[in-house]
Amino acid sequence: MTLEVHHTIAGIAAQTHEWRAQRLRIGFVPTMGNLHDGHIDLFRTLRPHCDRMVCSIFANPLQFGEGEDFGMYPRTLEADMERLTEIECDSLFAPSVDAMYGLLGMSHTKVSVKHMNNRYCGAFREGHFIGVATVVNKLFNIVLPHVAVFGEKDFQQLAVIRQMVSDLSMSVDIIGSPTYRDASGLALSSRNQYLTADEKVVAAELYKVLCDIRNKVNRASDSELESTVSNLIANGKARLEEMGFRPDYLDVANALTLAPFSVDSRELVVLVAARLGKARLIDNVHFVRER
Ligand code: PAF
Repeated sequence: MTLEVHHTIAGIAAQTHEWRAQRLRIGFVPTMGNLHDGHIDLFRTLRPHCDRMVCSIFANPLQFGEGEDFGMYPRTLEADMERLTEIECDSLFAPSVDAMYGLLGMSHTKVSVKHMNNRYCGAFREGHFIGVATVVNKLFNIVLPHVAVFGEKDFQQLAVIRQMVSDLSMSVDIIGSPTYRDASGLALSSRNQYLTADEKVVAAELYKVLCDIRNKVNRASDSELESTVSNLIANGKARLEEMGFRPDYLDVANALTLAPFSVDSRELVVLVAARLGKARLIDNVHFVRER
């Protein structure tokens, strides 16, 4: 089976229109490339939900802030195409910045899921989620998928996309795929490449800190919850700092809204973003409170 590769909007749109005319169900995994086992797992999640699988590879300049890693973001198109061929992905959309945004390299129209912009990662990456929502909206308009899969590792991104799809009545089903981890518990990410071998060992501790907080929140009664959470967050941040992380945030939130948790929130998420060496790592643990 060959992978069809399209570099233009017209090319991929013609392909997906043809599939729609044949009543085939189109599944979509948008990526920025440098595909690793975590991405491949997204296709495993997608496959039972569609007849044709489309991947996009586009490092989207709109979602990188000044001084972020847009220039050095790993671009490995040949190797990515090989992996997509192996897993029998049907079509790849890999546009240039010009092909997506024209010669100005930007979009005058922006999509903003306002209450998420300045929360958690949004507070540290100005404009990031506006860039994500804008490009995902545009990719959905181009590819016209029936269903799209996003990793739960980027928990806030998934919440932004679900909100956008609901608010704008977009007719695409969104599936969240559980975070793919290596044997040490480290969540797979293209940015793990910025870690040295020693830092990778430390990075695996991030997940342990999150699981520890989840377990203790689960054991707390309603009346102790608030003080338990604030102690756990303070201790968790101190633990991370001792290990060499520079945490941007560590928090427990309502998993559905990402609003601050309350005793009535049953579905919770422990979220973290922390810098280690040259990498900024994000991770989360999503759970339903047991008591
Ligand atoms: O998660 C990513 O790789 C990107 O944010 C996405 C969803 C492909 C949009 O550029």
